[in-house]
Amino acid sequence: MQNILVVGGAGYIGSHMVWLLGQHGVQAVTLDNLVAGHRDAVLHGELRVGDVADRALLDQILDSQRFDAVMHFASFIQVGESVLDPAKYYRNNVATTLTLLDAMRDHGVRQFVFSSTAALFGEPAYTPIDEKHPLQPINPYGRSKWMVEQVLADYARAYGLQSVCLRYFNAAGAHPQGLLGERHEPETHLIPLVLQAATGRRSHVTVFGRDYDTPDGTCIRDYVHVMDLADAHWLALQYLARGGTAGAFNLGNGNGYSVQEVVDTARRVTGRDIAVREGPRRAGDPARLVADAALARQVLGWQPRHGSLEAIVRDAWQWECRAGGPAPRRPPEPA
Ligand SMILES: NC(=O)c1ccc[n+]([C@@H]2O[C@H](COP(=O)([O-])OP(=O)(O)OC[C@H]3O[C@@H](n4cnc5c(N)ncnc54)[C@H](O)[C@@H]3O)[C@@H](O)[C@H]2O)c1
Repeated sequence: MQNILVVGGAGYIGSHMVWLLGQHGVQAVTLDNLVAGHRDAVLHGELRVGDVADRALLDQILDSQRFDAVMHFASFIQVGESVLDPAKYYRNNVATTLTLLDAMRDHGVRQFVFSSTAALFGEPAYTPIDEKHPLQPINPYGRSKWMVEQVLADYARAYGLQSVCLRYFNAAGAHPQGLLGERHEPETHLIPLVLQAATGRRSHVTVFGRDYDTPDGTCIRDYVHVMDLADAHWLALQYLARGGTAGAFNLGNGNGYSVQEVVDTARRVTGRDIAVREGPRRAGDPARLVADAALARQVLGWQPRHGSLEAIVRDAWQWECRAGGPAPRRPPEPA
């Protein structure tokens, strides 16, 4: 694998991947329309600013040089928005992916790594969740990813396009040297929200539900460090290069941490008070989502190296301090 096209490489997870490709001495071209990405997050290779739906641009890029594989991180990612505006999600997450796959097929690029999600599983029938767990997504975001996974299985059979679908649980953390991190707008992920409450960029963080069937009553999630995700993608490329066949792998640490544990860890790591407000449960939030990633360990040889919540929050905090610069503390707003 010498030359990789990274679609969505200016976003949170994609930019860490592009950096890692650079560390491995692999050439990379990033294609990103910057709707949610950042030009300055592409620290290696060339950035082509454009939309993956633009077939003429894809033809130009794929004609200009030989790519060994495509990694596809580009999609819309907000579950709540996908319920309100499903067309936006099916268009950007499914239809544009078809454009990309057809361009790959026409240009003879046969290896593909796809950013899938634990949202495929919906309300879990059991935890930890392995790859045999039924797929029953409960929102258009999850369904858009499921559709692409099904398309990929058909394209493997019909066209020999080999793909690896990586189903991330909760991506979190940041580059350990503080070069990159999470910059979503709006931010919906718990760890950056908690840390922004620590810097004073937010007045408080809301805990949605304290009456779940968990030890402290708050939801439990499996946080997986973004560098461990990038490692898994690297291993997926090696797997495809040695003739691995199309498949899907769950990526998580297998350790669940509750919302309250995240807040407590963030208070410890930052040494700051973090104001918390109580909110009602949110529809579609399962009590517990924890991965069984044994298959990724066995087949890809994946070994998460930054598994502790402490390490994840520490790296995210370093980034938050650099990116946002701890703003002056604002007093919590009255409840
Ligand atoms: N962040 C998580 O916890 C998480 C969990 C599971 C799965 N995922 C998946 O991982 C992938 C990356 O997530 P992220 O958190 O880095 O998101 P992100 O929004 O930071 O990155 C997505 C990137 O894709 C680009 N993009 C979107 N549509 C595009 C288009 N049509 N053409 C070109 N570029 C386009 C955006 O500008 C952005 O840079 C997504 O596919 C997401 O569904 C993320």
